[in-house]
Amino acid sequence: MENIALVVGATGITGSNLAQELISEGWTTYGLARNPNSNIEGLIPVKADLLDVENLTEALQNISPTHLFFTTWMRNDTEEENIKINSALVRNLLNVLSPKKSIQHVALVTGLKHYLGPFEAYAKAGSLPETPLREEQPRLKYPNFYYAQEDAVYEAAERDNFTWSIHRPHTVIGYAVGNLMNMGTTLAIYASICKETGRKFIFPGSSAQWNGLSDVTDARVLAKQLIWASTTEAAKNQAFNIANGDVFRWKWLWEKMADYFQIEFEGFENEIRPLEKELQNDHTLWEEIAEKYDLKENNLSKISSAWHTDLDLGRPIEVMTDMAKSRKLGFTTFQSTLDSFTDLFEKLKKEKLIP
Ligand SMILES: NC(=O)c1ccc[n+]([C@@H]2O[C@H](COP(=O)([O-])OP(=O)(O)OC[C@H]3O[C@@H](n4cnc5c(N)ncnc54)[C@H](OP(=O)(O)O)[C@@H]3O)[C@@H](O)[C@H]2O)c1
Repeated sequence: MENIALVVGATGITGSNLAQELISEGWTTYGLARNPNSNIEGLIPVKADLLDVENLTEALQNISPTHLFFTTWMRNDTEEENIKINSALVRNLLNVLSPKKSIQHVALVTGLKHYLGPFEAYAKAGSLPETPLREEQPRLKYPNFYYAQEDAVYEAAERDNFTWSIHRPHTVIGYAVGNLMNMGTTLAIYASICKETGRKFIFPGSSAQWNGLSDVTDARVLAKQLIWASTTEAAKNQAFNIANGDVFRWKWLWEKMADYFQIEFEGFENEIRPLEKELQNDHTLWEEIAEKYDLKENNLSKISSAWHTDLDLGRPIEVMTDMAKSRKLGFTTFQSTLDSFTDLFEKLKKEKLIP
C-alpha cells in the first residue's frame, strides 16, 4: 500500500528537513502549517491552524494519511498554557483524522526537556538528571507539555489502533527560516555580526557547557530516525533519543566556528554572558548588513533566537544522550557535528541569509 505522509509543522526546522527526506524516498508527502508555502519541490501544502478544528477538518477533507509526523509546538508564557495549547494541537488533529481510519503510525517529536524539565524548571539545580540521558529515565514531577502531548498520542493510539514512536532530539541543527528555536542559524548570524564589526565571538554559556561533553541533533538525522521508526516493526510503540552519534566540547567547536568565519573568539570567563544581551542593540546593524550584502531577511528577531541558544548553552551540567536503544534495533545513521554546522553555514550563504 502507498505510504502517504502528513508532516505537521512542515515549514519548521524538523518538519521541512523531514519533508525533504520523505520526498527523496518517494513518499507522497503533505505539509501542514498555518503558512505552508515552502520551496520544497514535491511537497503538497496544507494550510490549516491546528487550534481551529473547523478549519482543520475542512483542510484535511480529501487527505487520508497513513503516517503522521508531528513536528510542531507553540511557545506560551507559562508551562500551564504550554500544556493546554500543545496538547490541543495533537488532540485536535488526531480527533479530526480519527473517522478516516487511515492512520497506521504516529511519530511525535518532543525533546530533552522530557528529562531536563520544562522551560520554567529547566535544568535547575536540585532537579538535574544523570547524563547521558536514557529513554528509561522516569518522567520528572514537574508538569511538562511533552508529557501531555505523549499522553494525547497514547490515548488516540488506543482508540484508533495505530502504532506510535516518540523522538527526543537534543538541540536541532538545520536549515529553516523564521522558526522558533534555531541555534545553528543564531550562531551564524552572531558570527557574521562579529565579522562585520570586528567584535569578538564570545561564548554565551556556562562553564559546564564550555568544558563538558555535549551532542546535538542534525535535523537530517532526526528525519531519518522518524522514517525508520515509522517503518520498522521492532521500533513501534517506543520512545527514542536522537543525536548525531559523536560527542564534542563547546570549547573545541567554538574555536572551529571562529576559524570558519575567520573571527577572534573568547571562551567562558568567570560568568555567563548571554547572547540575548549581546545582540540586543544590533537590530539596526543587522538591517544595514542585510542591505549591504543583499540578504533575504533583515529582521534580526525573525532570523535568530538568542533566548533559546542562551537556555541551551547556559545549562549548569554537561548534557548528552545515550543512543544505544535505537542503535541496537538497527538505526545506525551517523553525522559529524562539525559538518552539521558547516553544511548549515554554507546553505545560509547560498540562500543569501548571511554574507
Ligand atoms: N528547534 C530545536 O532546537 C529543538 C530541539 C529539541 C526539541 N525540539 C522540539 O521539536 C518539536 C518541533 O519543533 P521545531 O523546533 O521543529 O518547530 P519549529 O521549527 O518552530 O516549527 C514549527 C512548525 O509548526 C507550524 N505551526 C506552529 N503553530 C501551528 C498551528 N497552530 N497550526 C499549524 N501549524 C503550526 C509552523 O508553521 P506556521 O507558523 O506557518 O504555522 C512550523 O511549520 C517541538 O516539540 C520542539 O520543542 C526542538
